[in-house]
Parts: sequence; C-alpha cells; structure tokens
Amino acid sequence: MGIIIDGKHVADKITEDLKLKIESMDKKPHLTVIQVGNNPASTIYVGLKKKKSEAIGIKSTVINLPETVSEVDLIDKIEELNIDLDVDAILVQLPLPKHISEENIIKAISPFKDVDGFTVENTGNLLNNIKPNVYPCTPKGVIRLLEEYNIDIAGKHAVIVGRSNIVGRPLAVMLLNRNATVTICHSYTKNLSDITRNADILISAVGKKIIYKDMVKEGAVVVDVGIFKDANGKTTGDVDFENVKGIASYITPVPKGVGPMTIAMLMENTVELAKQ
Ligand code: GUN
Repeated sequence: MGIIIDGKHVADKITEDLKLKIESMDKKPHLTVIQVGNNPASTIYVGLKKKKSEAIGIKSTVINLPETVSEVDLIDKIEELNIDLDVDAILVQLPLPKHISEENIIKAISPFKDVDGFTVENTGNLLNNIKPNVYPCTPKGVIRLLEEYNIDIAGKHAVIVGRSNIVGRPLAVMLLNRNATVTICHSYTKNLSDITRNADILISAVGKKIIYKDMVKEGAVVVDVGIFKDANGKTTGDVDFENVKGIASYITPVPKGVGPMTIAMLMENTVELAKQ
C-alpha cells in the first residue's frame, strides 16, 4: 500500500506562509483573472482562485467578458492591464472560444505579469534552463509535491502522459532540468503500457481514465494531474486510484492531490511577480 500524497495539506501550509508574507508587504499583490464566456469548469476554477486570493490577502479582480468578445477587444483589455501599475499578475483562463487564438492572447500578456509562465519569454527561458519570471503553476505544484515528500528526481525515469502546453511540456522540461530521464507519451504513442511500466515516476495529465494497475511498475511514484467528473458526477482523475494505490510507493489522490497545489502555486507566483 503506497503513501497517499496529501496535496491539500501541503498547499494549505504554503498558503498560510504566503499569508504571513503578504501581511508584511507594503502593497497587497493584485491578481487579475479574465474569463471569457461561461465554461462551467472555468467558472469553478476562477471562483476557487478568487476565494483563495482573498483568504490570504491577495487583491483579486475577475473580469468576465462575453463569449462573443472579439480577439482585438480581448487584446486591448490585456494591454490596458499590462500598463496598469496596480496590477501585478494577469491570468487569462483557458480554454478560450474557438474564434480567439490562444497564441495571440498569450503573446499580448506582458512576461512580467504572466502569472501562468505561458509567454514565449518565460517558456523559452524555462526550456533553456534559465530562470523564468515564474514557472507554470501545475508543473511547479507537481515538483513541489515530490520535493515535500523527499522523492528523488535525478536519474529517475519520469514518464508523462499528455503533452499540453499547460502541463506536459513544461513539466517535462522541469523534470529534465532536475536530471530525470524524461519520456512524453501522447495520443500517437504506440504500446503506451510498455512505456508507463518502465516509469519510476509516472505522471498522467490527460483528462480521462487511462492509467490502470497493469500499466504501473511496482513501487512507482504515481502523480495524477487529471480532474473531471465521471458518469455518476463524481470528481475523479486519470488513474484507477483504488487498484493502483496498492502497487505504487506514493500516489496522489483526486481530489486533494495536485489540484490544491496548482492554486497554491498561482498564489505564490502572484506574490513573486508583485515583488519583482
Ligand atoms: N485552464 C486550465 N488550467 C489552466 C491554467 O493553469 N491556467 C490558465 N490560464 N488556464 C487554465
């Protein structure tokens, strides 16, 4: 039976520390979140971010724009925030409606206010192992969890399932920069289970049930970044947790695993940008 990694506990500790740090700052850090349209998952995430910000002393502004907003108008709004001296951090909640190019929107965000670490300057620095202004929240949260549990990364074979810009790609680089041997799997990968069975650290960031017991090596560390509702409306992750927990050495649950860490890292990034 593996150790269940308590992401909520670690996240609470981080946000408690941040709260004290913020109390000693001259100006409250200010995070502005833009949500376009009413994607139900986005509404939940944006709500959680606002609630946590306010609980620890971060000023939080949520700008709701209609689903029909034009790309130009959204870019104008971002440019306004880029030069607003009161705003430290900007987050545009993804996904965006199909008529808007995410690439163009990310390009519009100042790298100095890019709280997700998604701009070309920040991702480019990350790729070259140069410190970006901030690291992307979810990969940073995964690494922090491994560190908190004293799980070695150097020399380990880390297998990531999923190659998104938000999780898979930046996480691969962050693990590589910590001297892991990294494999990224995706929808074109052949013989997925042959690869995952070789993982010392197996990370899944897909958004559907995909990791079963026969795909996991005995003693592997299993990190589940997926979060979605199953057919019964229950919140679940990519990993068949009940069956995998018996063979993993460490495993993150869903909920209360990586999710709270993402929000804690967003809070930490906001404070870091405010200080910069
Ligand atoms: N949508 C899902 N995850 C994220 C995230 O980390 N940042 C942003 N901006 N949108 C998201």
